[in-house]
Amino acid sequence: MKLLRLTIFGSMLLCTVMGFSQQGSVGSEATVIINADLGTETISRHIYGHFSEHLGHCIYGGYWVGYESDIPNKNGIRNDVVEALQNIHIPNLRWPGGCFADEYRWMDGIGPASQRPKMVNTHWGGVTEDNSFGTHEFMDLCEQLGTAPVICGNVGSGSVKEMSQWVEYLNFDGISPMADLRRVNGRETAWGVKYWGVGNENWGCGGNMTAEFYADQYRRYATFCRNYGEHRLYKIAGGANSEDYNWTETLMKKIPHHLMDGISLHYYTTNWNNKGSATEFGEELYFEILRRCLSIEEAIDRHIAIMDRYDPEKNVALIFDEWGTWYDVEPGTNPGFLFQQNSMRDALVAGLTLNYLNEKCSRIKMANIAQTINVLQALIFTKGDQMLLTPTYHIYDMYKVHHDAELLPLSLESPEYTFGNESLPAINASASKSIDGKIHVSLVNIDPEQTIEVVLKLRGTDVHEVNGTLLTSVEISSHNTFEKPREVVPVDFNDVKMIKDGIVVTLPAKSVVVLEIM
Ligand code: AHR
Repeated sequence: MKLLRLTIFGSMLLCTVMGFSQQGSVGSEATVIINADLGTETISRHIYGHFSEHLGHCIYGGYWVGYESDIPNKNGIRNDVVEALQNIHIPNLRWPGGCFADEYRWMDGIGPASQRPKMVNTHWGGVTEDNSFGTHEFMDLCEQLGTAPVICGNVGSGSVKEMSQWVEYLNFDGISPMADLRRVNGRETAWGVKYWGVGNENWGCGGNMTAEFYADQYRRYATFCRNYGEHRLYKIAGGANSEDYNWTETLMKKIPHHLMDGISLHYYTTNWNNKGSATEFGEELYFEILRRCLSIEEAIDRHIAIMDRYDPEKNVALIFDEWGTWYDVEPGTNPGFLFQQNSMRDALVAGLTLNYLNEKCSRIKMANIAQTINVLQALIFTKGDQMLLTPTYHIYDMYKVHHDAELLPLSLESPEYTFGNESLPAINASASKSIDGKIHVSLVNIDPEQTIEVVLKLRGTDVHEVNGTLLTSVEISSHNTFEKPREVVPVDFNDVKMIKDGIVVTLPAKSVVVLEIM
């Protein structure tokens, strides 16, 4: 997208007005101080990762339309979706689940499609899974996307042997039963898959195990997931649910750290007792979701504090491999397909969460929003041959500037957004410096009514030029539909004033802004 260019050369004058198209009255002022020369950590691009399960229309209809489809595709994978995900530089893709992973038999998903056994997808709608999208199709998808595969193995109902053979099938280049089978199925060279999840939610759908039992299982599985040649594995232990700190503690204590590169965490932004509608909500539920989203910070901090106790050198990463909003399914849709709309509220949740993950990048090395297409907090919807981008997609597009950039330390003072007798900080921010020296600042204003002026002071750098992109909407529940696909789309942002030691940004109510500062 073309960005508005605001250029000031030479000395900066106090309050040079660069643009002004303010929405609502200016409420109060926030201050962000960014230390542009004090960054020490890198924000892994893998924090911007994705998750796609055999669930509803994520895989089938989402990516996969089959070789005979009229929908433009390459090897059965739809082109529009590949192009949209390439545009946000999708860094990794977790597959095949989720709960599905612990029922999946990978060997049923290889060989001639017509001969592949079928299974029941018991978790997700009880539909028949015909295994037409299997290992080769997934690896082709990753190659088309230019993304790193993250494969989750079956610990709950599978065996050590099955998972070990899957690794051999994908990663061994010599002569062996699995490498030979791969060749029979049309692939000569090993793909070399690095990232492996060892089970999923093994405290629940992945086997209802205790933390102690899972830790022992993990040790067995991880031992037999071998490194082949140059293909070194990055093994991720199936982690805790939300605030289950005992799970994290037990795994950190019982699993030798040389067997584990990461430990996962799942935390959905939802009220499990009453999830509510994705689009039919007032300010009370808006506030409630944002409050729950911000409470993830405390949970992550506590999981990290436990990891710090056992691993102060940070050899084991926290992998936040399922997160996002979870509402009631859209009326009339299969309850097992988890299809929900996606509004400006979801964009704010994405902006807040990604800002926080950036901040914790010294421990968090990967995260995966659930899920990429047609499921939960989706980035993309498909309907027949049509494709639609959600507000959450636009956040990933705007935030891609943070990939592999240096995190810049910042301090923030924010006015409060109050609803009833509860308050949340209205403004949230993250800043990074990319390899070419550009500074990017992502700012979120969750106040649904108040425009807020943010005084952004930059230390350790000069400001010559600012470009901005804004995502906001008319209503907090505004969303895109196939009929109205442009209700919530990014636009150029120019409400920026230059001041002596930085800039003043006028942030509209319920908005996300990403600035590029040079
Ligand atoms: O993302 C949907 C489901 O949520 C996943 O299958 C499971 O891991 C989690 O409970």
